[in-house]
Amino acid sequence: MRPFLLAGLLATGSAIGATASRHAHASAQSDAYDYIIVGGGPSGIITAERLVEANKKVLLLERGYGPTVATGANDTLSWNKTLTPIDLPGLSADIGALPQWDEYICTDTAGYAACVLGGGVTVNYMVFVHPPDRDFNDKWPKGWKWDDVKSAADRLYERNPGTILPSADGKRYDQGLYTVLSNFFSKLGWKSVDMITQPNEKHEVYSYPAWNIKDQVRAGPVRTYLPLAEKSDNFHLRLGTKVLRLLRSGSQVTGVEVENASGARENITIASNGRVVLSAGALSTPRILFNSGIGPSSQIEIAEESGVTVPPKKEWINLPVGIGAKDHPIFSIIVKTNGTYGLPDYDAIVNGSDTTDISLYAKGSGLLTEGKHRMIFFTSNDIDGQTRYYQGSCAPTGTDEVTITAYMTHGLTSSGVLGLSTDGSTVWDEKPYLTTAGDRAAATAFIEQMITDLTDSTGFTLQTYTNVTQILGSVSPGMHYTTTAKLGTDDGRYGNGTSVVDTNTKVYGTDNLFIVDGSIHPDLPTGNIQATIMVVAEAAVARILALE
Ligand SMILES: Cc1cc2nc3c(=O)[nH]c(=O)nc-3n(C[C@H](O)[C@H](O)[C@H](O)COP(=O)(O)OP(=O)(O)OC[C@H]3O[C@@H](n4cnc5c(N)ncnc54)[C@H](O)[C@@H]3O)c2cc1C
Ligand SMILES: *[C@@H]1O[C@H](CO)[C@@H](O)[C@H](O)[C@H]1NC(C)=O
Ligand SMILES: *[C@@H]1O[C@H](CO)[C@@H](O)[C@H](O)[C@H]1NC(C)=O
Ligand SMILES: *[C@@H]1O[C@H](CO)[C@@H](O)[C@H](O)[C@H]1NC(C)=O
Ligand SMILES: *[C@@H]1O[C@H](CO)[C@@H](O)[C@H](O)[C@H]1NC(C)=O
Ligand SMILES: *[C@@H]1O[C@H](CO)[C@@H](O)[C@H](O)[C@H]1NC(C)=O
Ligand SMILES: *[C@@H]1O[C@H](CO)[C@@H](O)[C@H](O)[C@H]1NC(C)=O
Ligand SMILES: *[C@@H]1O[C@H](CO)[C@@H](O)[C@H](O)[C@H]1NC(C)=O
Ligand SMILES: *[C@@H]1O[C@H](CO)[C@@H](O)[C@H](O)[C@H]1NC(C)=O
Repeated sequence: MRPFLLAGLLATGSAIGATASRHAHASAQSDAYDYIIVGGGPSGIITAERLVEANKKVLLLERGYGPTVATGANDTLSWNKTLTPIDLPGLSADIGALPQWDEYICTDTAGYAACVLGGGVTVNYMVFVHPPDRDFNDKWPKGWKWDDVKSAADRLYERNPGTILPSADGKRYDQGLYTVLSNFFSKLGWKSVDMITQPNEKHEVYSYPAWNIKDQVRAGPVRTYLPLAEKSDNFHLRLGTKVLRLLRSGSQVTGVEVENASGARENITIASNGRVVLSAGALSTPRILFNSGIGPSSQIEIAEESGVTVPPKKEWINLPVGIGAKDHPIFSIIVKTNGTYGLPDYDAIVNGSDTTDISLYAKGSGLLTEGKHRMIFFTSNDIDGQTRYYQGSCAPTGTDEVTITAYMTHGLTSSGVLGLSTDGSTVWDEKPYLTTAGDRAAATAFIEQMITDLTDSTGFTLQTYTNVTQILGSVSPGMHYTTTAKLGTDDGRYGNGTSVVDTNTKVYGTDNLFIVDGSIHPDLPTGNIQATIMVVAEAAVARILALE
């Protein structure tokens, strides 16, 4: 068990003990929080930090622990006591094999999510796709079009820009795959772009991968926002603290009931004009809503069966939480090529015997500054009047083998239903993958075209999944979950609307409850979602502050 960490104490380094008790005292008389933020993922940290900047007294509650030395982790690399394996870009490809994976992955969600400070951004593959304008312009409501959120994106990119060239020496390492595939795509007539500076180019283009890396380590709000919040006495962070449910008095939220790692429960209240923001992620925020009497009554009844004390029935707010959930499906396309790719020896990186890469890294350079992928491509198709986009993240998985993780993205029309089970886990009542005939036909057309191109006088051969049926059958979750508490103008309380939060991210039917995380996105972006998640958090917190 890790120690119970309190407060905005980590910036003060060695004074942890003293600061912890000061803040413990502060939280005992805690009723004056202006904001409680539930969940310390990218959305929660960005929201909390911007509120602290606006002089609000903020409590950020996170069920997991810190993944970096600065946030309390001590599982450092044998050869660098300031870094954990999570920090090192060169280990991100192998993240599922690290002991941190089992420690950090949530065990009570319908799909992969991370229960650790930093949320999914702590364990993800770091692909950082600046969203194109159309991702907002197509389906987000007025007030959330690209022109409305552009300044929020600029605020994010100023602190957390992403990079296509992380190595300090300005070189790229292990470029065999890029050489082979760029040759392949340019012969097809596709265009080489910089996916950071040309975000709107998403048809028949390829780029060096953009990664969430800064100063040669995994970036993200734990590094780029949290230290700024921790400078303020108004910021309080409690790790190892899981929010079970909201405390409500009718339409007013008065606080939260939490449970610590030993199961001890506590109520934490907000100031009389305070607010609560749920940022627990698209697969966990719905559970907190169900547990608090917000959602379809069938789900609230399951919450009650799971042992939660839900509010009296007259206080239930009937909103379509969980309905319309979306994700990017992934298709695996594995290709044997004529290249030669140097696969890193992850054990040797972990145990320190890979002295070549490690000594380059000490100078801020080399393979260990790079993520898993070597190329990312984008394209689109239109078979039925609906344009659907695709992203291919290409990584070497053998000395002559490329694995293309091909996502169907923006424009897809499928959705599912996220619900609750009586053991308290969120579950798929209906899976969100390829539920429409249009998506199935478009995916088939995309895969057919890829197979034709990849195998037509290239010398390449397909591995494992060798025909359209098999590649379609390889479908797996993209882990970019959205739309479980949709933002929109059509109030969902009366059965004739689809939205759970209004355009200020306030939950319909409540006075002071907000949601800022992947749950509220009404639509999927064209690429991996984390940059979009962060842009939306920046835009949302500005709107929440503007409401005061
Ligand atoms: C394995 C994996 C790989 C991925 N790869 C990529 C990638 O390469 N590129 C990309 O762009 N995206 C990727 N993603 C997706 C991206 O990381 C997520 O979409 C993003 O982190 C979602 O942010 P969020 O703030 O909505 O929620 P989350 O990141 O899920 O954060 C929610 C936070 O709330 C906490 N929490 C949950 N419930 C409670 C509670 N009851 N009380 C207190 N705290 C709570 C959690 O511990 C967590 O810290 C990946 C995701 C996963 C899981
Ligand atoms: C690391 O932290 C864990 C959890 O608090 C603790 O049990 C362990 O002793 C620590 N290890 C070191 C080397 O400090
Ligand atoms: C949980 O809280 C109880 C009561 O305050 C305390 O005794 C216990 O040590 C706490 N457990 C953890 C893991 O912090
Ligand atoms: C929190 O408050 C609720 C509602 O008043 C109450 O039912 C519950 O027992 C309280 N929990 C704790 C741990 O005090
Ligand atoms: C791979 O094959 C292509 C097409 O035959 C050829 O142009 C290229 O030079 C080959 N690459 C290598 C590394 O052999
Ligand atoms: C480190 O890992 C490498 C690769 O698996 C192995 O050959 C080597 O013996 C290991 N060294 C130590 C010190 O464990
Ligand atoms: C250890 O990591 C720090 C932080 O990234 C870096 O400055 C330093 O050069 C690293 N040392 C080695 C030996 O890699
Ligand atoms: C696809 O390949 C599998 C395995 O070789 C085979 O059983 C199946 O019939 C093939 N399907 C089509 C449509 O060719
Ligand atoms: C939905 O129903 C409510 C209550 O009957 C009504 O006030 C509202 O105008 C309706 N909304 C739409 C979009 O029809």
